Amino acid sequence: MKLLVAILVSALAITVSFAYDPSPLQDICVAVKDPHHAVFVNGRFCKDPKEVEAEDFFFPGFNVPRNTDNNDGSNVTNVNVDQIPGLNTLGISMVRIDFAPYGLNPPHTHPRATEILVVVEGELYVGFVTSNQLGNKLITKVLKAGDVFVFPIGLIHFQWNVGKTKAVAFAALSSQFPGVITISKSVFGSNPPINVDVLAKAFQVDAHVIKQLQKPFA
Ligand SMILES: *[C@@H]1O[C@H](CO)[C@@H](O)[C@H](O)[C@H]1NC(C)=O
Repeated sequence: MKLLVAILVSALAITVSFAYDPSPLQDICVAVKDPHHAVFVNGRFCKDPKEVEAEDFFFPGFNVPRNTDNNDGSNVTNVNVDQIPGLNTLGISMVRIDFAPYGLNPPHTHPRATEILVVVEGELYVGFVTSNQLGNKLITKVLKAGDVFVFPIGLIHFQWNVGKTKAVAFAALSSQFPGVITISKSVFGSNPPINVDVLAKAFQVDAHVIKQLQKPFA
């Protein structure tokens, strides 16, 4: 019985530790698409270190403005393990965010990463909301060029360009693959859609309001 408990506890410990990016067990572990002749280490498969080259750690053109001609008026450029395979197992990544005047990076969360953001151009109204246990407190700030702000892991947050000019921000995230859950898209734009009555009760509104909210994603 004691042994069984010990096994269950250690199995649980492994599960919990695997929910986070691992500490690297070697200097480098460049991700490879082809797992042939590779070892799995709780990230992607690793490239043979003898074949590793500078390109594995490189992403050019982060200075180039992105196109913000879309409904949100914003554009997020990811630089995670998909773009830089050398980030595998290192627990870090970046984004560039371009904003049109009044452009919005809509409320979203990163399930695996804390984000630290610096504004390099323009003026952003940013914020996050704490958990239910902490009273869903909204924490906000207007940021100017040079200002840095942190969005804690898992919490819903947003950035809105409140200036008359375009804005640009860069952020680092504490995961090689932070993930993104955009609240509007996930709740009203899932595939297939969440039952209208479920959402009507959850949001305490009539079904037709929910149908209207689902329409842009249909
Ligand atoms: C972001 O910008 C790039 C390059 O300008 C463009 O190819 C891409 O379609 C844009 N994405 C969105 C969502 O507008």
